[in-house]
Amino acid sequence: MMTTRKLLSAIASAGMLTAGGALAEPRTYELPQSTTQLRQLKGYEVGFEAAQINCVSCHSVDYIAMQPPKKGKAFWESEVVKMIKVYHAPIGEDDSKAIAAYLAKAY
Ligand code: HEC
Repeated sequence: MMTTRKLLSAIASAGMLTAGGALAEPRTYELPQSTTQLRQLKGYEVGFEAAQINCVSCHSVDYIAMQPPKKGKAFWESEVVKMIKVYHAPIGEDDSKAIAAYLAKAY
């Protein structure tokens, strides 16, 4: 028959094993994928492609998709300018115009 003392030490070492196991075992987590993609829009392929290259390098598409809908061209133009002036996004003038026109129609 196991004495109380032996039983306690059995529990203690089992606990240590578990703790050691938890440390040694690497955990992997599935990070949620950003599912949002830029909307395609017929006639605005140039702006769409420029946005795909230039507008998702620092943050996800969510930043664009999250904006209230139908903000209009002036809003998107100033967003693009802000990205360039404030955050130093390296986007040329032609691309900027195409992107703003596309975003104003698509969002
Ligand atoms: C150089 C990095 C960079 C690039 C490239 C970039 N952004 Fe951003 N963007 C930012 C940062 C930084 C913020 C602010 C993040 C915050 O406040 O949490 C931001 C925020 C935003 C927001 C949220 C509203 C706001 O004004 O803060 C929108 C919309 C947005 N970006 C759109 C765009 C679009 C459209 C493009 C492509 C023309 C673009 N971004 C390219 C860095 C960038």
